[in-house]
Amino acid sequence: MERLAARRLTGGMADSILVTGATGKSGRRVVDQLRAQGLPVRAAARGGEHTFDWTDPGTWDAALEGMRSAYIVQLDGTKLVRPFIERAVRHGVRRIVLASGRGIDVPGYAKDSGGVLEGIIDSEAAVRDSGLEWTISRPGWFAQNFSEGFFADAIRTGELRLPAGDGAASFVDAEDIAAVVVAALTEDRHAGQIYEVSGPRAVTLSEAVATISEAAGREIRYVPLSAGEYVAELVAQGVPAPDAEAFADVIEPLREGRDAYVSDGVRRALGRPPRTFAEFAESTAAAGGWPA
Ligand SMILES: NC(=O)c1ccc[n+]([C@@H]2O[C@H](COP(=O)([O-])OP(=O)(O)OC[C@H]3O[C@@H](n4cnc5c(N)ncnc54)[C@H](OP(=O)(O)O)[C@@H]3O)[C@@H](O)[C@H]2O)c1
Repeated sequence: MERLAARRLTGGMADSILVTGATGKSGRRVVDQLRAQGLPVRAAARGGEHTFDWTDPGTWDAALEGMRSAYIVQLDGTKLVRPFIERAVRHGVRRIVLASGRGIDVPGYAKDSGGVLEGIIDSEAAVRDSGLEWTISRPGWFAQNFSEGFFADAIRTGELRLPAGDGAASFVDAEDIAAVVVAALTEDRHAGQIYEVSGPRAVTLSEAVATISEAAGREIRYVPLSAGEYVAELVAQGVPAPDAEAFADVIEPLREGRDAYVSDGVRRALGRPPRTFAEFAESTAAAGGWPA
């Protein structure tokens, strides 16, 4: 116990942990899990406890001042992590954990219509070049896309219409993503590790929706569309065509099953298996996360 405590970052502000993206799906949980351990946290986002804006470097120093470690949730489509890390080094930050994504090192994994991959590849390189203790978290599709993200509105309306066919993904619970990040922020043995994190098995879209339907206690349907139908529906709803096509591109790896493989990051970092999709759906129901 004492050894564990000694490995942890405790103490005053100089030992504090900066969490960017602190109001988002992973960052919010990282903040909660760190605070549950009694650790000092600066929760930063545009709308968070501590105001931080990636696009306003004037906010960076106040975020980094006095921090020893940082969880970096980058602004997709930018290359701001590299200058941010340079600034972090000047502030004496010693340890960083980067939110990245699976498939980043696989050419052709996804179409990069929004310039997102290029930015994340640069961020990973900046982290590795930083000279700091670093860990990279590469999650697959978040299970919370159904409850808080991309698919949440459709789940609320009872019909998820996507160009994903019978595609499956090893959806990962953001609680597990956060637990891996917290371990990397607070324990020494994760330096230099890249953790690819997924759920314990592939789940098809139909199965995911049926599992949520059962946990939520109401009927929810999955309706597979062609990519053309999907883009046309979004455009009819007022989404600009390039954005609609970019959304379809994001779904393509799901349709092709490219995110169905299982990764061992949760087990490697935490020594336990990841949570199942059913556990995610049930705990979300218990927290009132599937409103009628
Ligand atoms: N969702 C997935 O399935 C998935 C899978 C693999 C990888 N990823 C990657 O994981 C990362 C996203 O993580 P997440 O899902 O935890 O985030 P998220 O839920 O999308 O939340 C984004 C966070 O970033 C903050 N933010 C947005 N714009 C900002 C700005 N200009 N300055 C400062 N903060 C800003 C938001 O807060 P405010 O709006 O209050 O500023 C929020 O806290 C992305 O890099 C994504 O590519 C996602």
